[in-house]
This record gives sequence, C-alpha cells and structure tokens, in this order.
Amino acid sequence: LIASLGEIEQTYIMVKPDGVQRGLVGEIISRFEKKGFKLTGLKLFQCPKDLAEEHYKDLKAKPFFPKLIDYITSGPVVCMAWEGVGVVASARKLIGSTDPLQAEPGTIRGDLAVQTGRNVVHGSDSPENGKREIALWFNENEINQWTPAQAPWLR
Ligand code: TYD
Repeated sequence: LIASLGEIEQTYIMVKPDGVQRGLVGEIISRFEKKGFKLTGLKLFQCPKDLAEEHYKDLKAKPFFPKLIDYITSGPVVCMAWEGVGVVASARKLIGSTDPLQAEPGTIRGDLAVQTGRNVVHGSDSPENGKREIALWFNENEINQWTPAQAPWLR
C-alpha cells in the first residue's frame, strides 16, 4: 500500500527573517504538521552571506539578487527538513505563489504576506533541490529519522 503511493521525498522549508521577526514561526510549522508531513530537521540559524548566495545561485544574474541576499541574511531564519510522499509539490501549494498578492487565500503567502521581497517562507522547487538544499543547510547529524507512533503510514 505504502509503495503504491509513490516515492518518499524530502523538502527544505525555511521561515525567512521577516517570518521570524513577525512571530509567524509557529503558524508556519503548524501548517505542515497539520497537513501530515514528517519533520526531520529544525533549527534557528543566522545565515552567512556565502550560504545565502549558494542557496540562491540560480538567481545570481537577477537584478533583485543583492537585495535578496541582504534580506535572507538580515536576521535568523528557521530551517526545516520535511519528508513525505509528494511533499515537494504539496509544500509549494501550501506556500502559494512567489508574489503574495497573487497567492491564493488559504496559502501561507496568501494569508500572511503582501510583498514578493518579504514572502515569509521558502520551499524547494523539486525533489533534487530538496536534497541539495537540506545538505546545504543541515549537518547530517541534524536530520532525524523517526516513525510517528500514531500515524505509522507516514513512516
Ligand atoms: P523564486 O525561486 O523565483 O520564487 P520561490 O521562492 O517562490 O521559489 O525566487 C526566490 C525568491 O527571490 C523569492 O521567494 C523572493 C525573491 N524574489 C524577489 O525578491 N523579486 C522577484 O521578482 C522574484 C521573482 C523573486
């Protein structure tokens, strides 16, 4: 049954500095918890500039890149690793569109933000990037494998 549901994926979710400053950490974690995904890594972390640049390296040529790096390094972020079948695409749906004014109500950005440059949360855009980003932001010993006792189908 479990195998027929598909591949278990990992995604990197991050509450950005504006989300931490605004006290939205609990609210954001809660949405992924309630959905039923499994938390495997969690920490509050002040991101150094070189890590922010590596994380967003595909956007290096964009005009907003310097401001994006300043923003991500402006205060602590909350780094999370989440696991589950279909977690990458589902987390992107829970997060909503990049521009919070276009994001649907009911999504994190649609409910909690108004500016693209202050859109409170990050989520990996592919299973490959999920793995890449978790390896970038976490040490191996910070990722925990566990089976939820009350919901073993989550593995
Ligand atoms: P992107 O990877 O396109 O979006 P998403 O976070 O939804 O995967 O862009 C990364 C971040 O860059 C985005 O969350 C906010 C910032 N950004 C801007 O500041 N201005 C912009 O015009 C865009 C497209 C993104």
